[in-house]
Amino acid sequence: MEAIVAVFSDWGIGSKGTQQVVLKADRAHFRELTSGAAVLVGRKTMEDFPGGKPLKGRNNIVVTRQNVEIEGAEVVHSTEEALLAASKYDRCLCIGGASIFRQFLPYTERIFITKIDLAPESDSYFPNLDEDPDWECTEQSPDMEEEGTVFRFCTYERR
Ligand SMILES: NC(=O)c1ccc[n+]([C@@H]2O[C@H](COP(=O)([O-])OP(=O)(O)OC[C@H]3O[C@@H](n4cnc5c(N)ncnc54)[C@H](OP(=O)(O)O)[C@@H]3O)[C@@H](O)[C@H]2O)c1
Repeated sequence: MEAIVAVFSDWGIGSKGTQQVVLKADRAHFRELTSGAAVLVGRKTMEDFPGGKPLKGRNNIVVTRQNVEIEGAEVVHSTEEALLAASKYDRCLCIGGASIFRQFLPYTERIFITKIDLAPESDSYFPNLDEDPDWECTEQSPDMEEEGTVFRFCTYERR
């Protein structure tokens, strides 16, 4: 399993159910890396997608404890069920939110992290992998800038 996330300099990833800063270049990077793959997503994050609907062009696996059907998605109700659903695909990326990243980190081997040099107030965080000896940054793009915000694309792999 892989994961993809955008983090601020304090590893914050969101506030009040949404992402405080969205970069066009990061959206494009996300689209490129997830297109055609399966994505594992928490119910709250899915509700923050455009129209509150699953993403087009990906096989959406939505994790919820509720007994609901979601058009355009496979609904699962536990980590075990999610792992089974993910195993049917060649490629599955965990796309959040915080609770999903945390629960599936032990099953994740590679993480695409966009590091954004801002620190708006967050209430959701990704674990700080720079302080975790199990993870190393194996690739990093040069710094880029969008409307005055500096960011870079990094790849972390489990040691
Ligand atoms: N920066 C980024 O790259 C990025 C990416 C994604 C999300 N985010 C941010 O992350 C925040 C949302 O994170 P979050 O932790 O609050 O919500 P979340 O992980 O998106 O969704 C949580 C929901 O997932 C379901 N769930 C979680 N674990 C489950 C389990 N083991 N079994 C069954 N269902 C389970 C539950 O749904 P039910 O309540 O329906 O049972 C739970 O309420 C937002 O601020 C969002 O913007 C940031």
